[in-house]
Amino acid sequence: MTYGMTQPVQQRELIDGFNRRVDYVRLSVTDRCDFRCVYCMAEEMTFLPRADILSLEELHRVARVFVSLGVTRIRLTGGEPLVRPGIEKLAAWIAAEPGLEELTLTTNAGRLASKATALRAAGVKRLNISLDSLDETRFRALTRTGNLADVLAGIQAAREAGFERIRLNSVIMRGRNDDEVLALTAFALENGLDIAFIEEMPLGAIDDHNRAEMFVSSEELRDTLAQRYTLLPATDGTAGPSRYWRVAGESGRIGFISPHSHNFCHLCNRVRVTVEGRLLLCLGNEHSVDLKPLLREHPEDDAPLAQAIIAAMDIKPERHHFSHDDNAEQLVRFMNMTGG
Ligand code: GTP
Ligand code: 5AD
Ligand code: SF4
Repeated sequence: MTYGMTQPVQQRELIDGFNRRVDYVRLSVTDRCDFRCVYCMAEEMTFLPRADILSLEELHRVARVFVSLGVTRIRLTGGEPLVRPGIEKLAAWIAAEPGLEELTLTTNAGRLASKATALRAAGVKRLNISLDSLDETRFRALTRTGNLADVLAGIQAAREAGFERIRLNSVIMRGRNDDEVLALTAFALENGLDIAFIEEMPLGAIDDHNRAEMFVSSEELRDTLAQRYTLLPATDGTAGPSRYWRVAGESGRIGFISPHSHNFCHLCNRVRVTVEGRLLLCLGNEHSVDLKPLLREHPEDDAPLAQAIIAAMDIKPERHHFSHDDNAEQLVRFMNMTGG
């Protein structure tokens, strides 16, 4: 051991105060995005100055330390991860970490057409792709800047690139896209994709709509879908928040992510790291630990970083308290800071 260095960390797994094992990290590689989805962002957003964000090398180091602590799955998120220059290189570095079983990525697919092959070659196994409408005009209205044709080309490129699974994510809002649930599902199944319907969460003060008024529960959507398809509970979930159903004769599955109507916090296996290096212990709470000073003050020694991550498990909250009540405290953190 080099003089002055901290003792190597012996602990090999992360267990929080509620006896939940954390083996999954969502690593945000940028807070920037080329879309402005109405449920995620305000029309005018201020993004972090470049000096405040972690370099690709620092992001890799964070991932490596988590893997050394027993994390087996990492999901790259944003903002939009594909706007970060060098994302393919970062993916390849992380995917090559011994002990990591799965690297995945969540994207809006606006730039996926030109990047799908490289991401697959880098070792990304599964992709989740946001898609809230199949109507060009409506897609533009929901994303404010997005172009549906680019996204559809991205989805096609991803299918050709040979990812193990691709899942569409649809946030459903009453009066905006709830009439597209069957069309989105048919599109997913025809293309051999999974689809997850997501209840909108109150993250960030958005100016577009009242979230409570537009809320559509997963149960309502499942009833709609059950009129068209025979839904059978799926046994092969991803250990994430989505509850999946199979459709007889189809390879694609239908999932529901229901933070309001079906709390899944007791099964939580995950933490997040923002691109500023803030370790967030829960999507719905502010509990966090700043890892950036540890990265920068100990460039050659991972032990302080590892110890801080282990210690942070004690402050992981039991659950989120998302509410429709306008008087309830709304979270000021926008979704693009955490990648969902
Ligand atoms: P897996 O990696 O397969 O588990 O996918 P995922 O569903 O976690 O990832 P994705 O990035 O596609 O996120 C889909 C939705 O799930 C987004 O709206 C996320 O904000 C939400 N989500 C992911 N993890 C959590 C969580 O721990 N709590 C809550 N409330 N929502 C989550
Ligand atoms: N509530 C629920 N899901 C959201 N997403 C973004 N903002 C919200 C929100 N407020 C979803 C996106 C993307 C995923 C990472 O998070 O649709 O698919
Ligand atoms: Fe960008 Fe994703 Fe937020 Fe849409 S939901 S604005 S694609 S980060």
